[in-house]
Amino acid sequence: MLAAATKVGDSHSEHASDPARSWKKIVEPVEPFLHAVTRQLVEQSRNFDPQIVPYAEHALNKGGKNLRPTLVALAAGCFGKPNENHVTAAVIIEMIHLATLVHDDVMDEADIRRGSPTLAAKWGNEIAVLFGDCLFAQALKLASDFPTTDICRAVSLATNTVCSGEILQTQQRRKFAAAQKDYFRVIGMKTGELFTLSCDLAAFLSGAQPAQRAALKEFGAAVGTAYQIYDDCVDLFGVEADAGKSLGTDLAKGKLTWPLLLAWERASAPDRAALESLILQWQSENFAAVKALLAKYETFAPSVAEIERYLETARGALRTLPASSGQAGLLALTDFLAQQTAALAVQ
Ligand code: IPE
Ligand code: IPE
Ligand code: MG
Ligand code: MG
Repeated sequence: MLAAATKVGDSHSEHASDPARSWKKIVEPVEPFLHAVTRQLVEQSRNFDPQIVPYAEHALNKGGKNLRPTLVALAAGCFGKPNENHVTAAVIIEMIHLATLVHDDVMDEADIRRGSPTLAAKWGNEIAVLFGDCLFAQALKLASDFPTTDICRAVSLATNTVCSGEILQTQQRRKFAAAQKDYFRVIGMKTGELFTLSCDLAAFLSGAQPAQRAALKEFGAAVGTAYQIYDDCVDLFGVEADAGKSLGTDLAKGKLTWPLLLAWERASAPDRAALESLILQWQSENFAAVKALLAKYETFAPSVAEIERYLETARGALRTLPASSGQAGLLALTDFLAQQTAALAVQ
């Protein structure tokens, strides 16, 4: 599955349908770029107070799937070769992403992230909240080093949007009607925004024409939204060991994701009441009953169809760009996400 399969440098079986292999094919052309991003992220830990360095190392040295840096590299590849500025932009975005994960794990009371204990599990919520703040600040400092203020402004606005999305989601916990009305807007904010920013800054730093930049932004927003629906499905239908992070936290925290909202919408009055009470009075033993309702109302297939719809929008946005290795890589990324989504059905 995506989490386990996308580690750069993984080399599993030689089988052609091995997801690790197809992900490797997508990132192979941009591997030097991703290595430069990883190196610079590790170097960033030196910019913190010596007593804070252990937290920085814990957060910055454990690479994730590098989805956002990959998007920066591939989007830049639509216009030529990515350069040092693209690497810096990817480092900034990955640091913002990490800061949001550190905070998200506090809110979700998650124990595992990227296959290791979360910062909060290791050092407590107070340290995690404050260190997340340090990460945001350091990312914005890096953004302010660009000669133009455009980058720092775009990163700041996007960060505000991501955090606002997390706030809206928190306000809507356990509130089915409100969550249903706002689901796509919220995931567009909390996840789509950094995917959009990755594509947008790459295009900007490559001197892309406004129409090309807009096309890449549309691509990023659609893929980011598809990715969050996929991630929400992983939380319900996935396997923790493959994901490398705590699963089931959406239910535990009353985050009403698309499959749950579909079940709620389709359910008979008694089943709807049962679902609401399972979520309202959550305990881990409720998981089987929720899963049964998700199955009864066949929520997996329409969730997959929703992901496919967003991926199709993303592919459509790319059609306006001239053919390039970057465009081919971005298209392959949408196919890979579709393949990973389909694979959830057999877990
Ligand atoms: C996790 O993002 C948070 C979501 C938006 C679902 P990723 O799945 O990209 O996490 P890492 O960076 O690989 O750890
Ligand atoms: C994504 O939401 C978190 C952010 C965008 C900050 P999730 O809560 O679904 O992310 P995971 O599943 O913990 O990675
Ligand atoms: Mg979470
Ligand atoms: Mg999740």
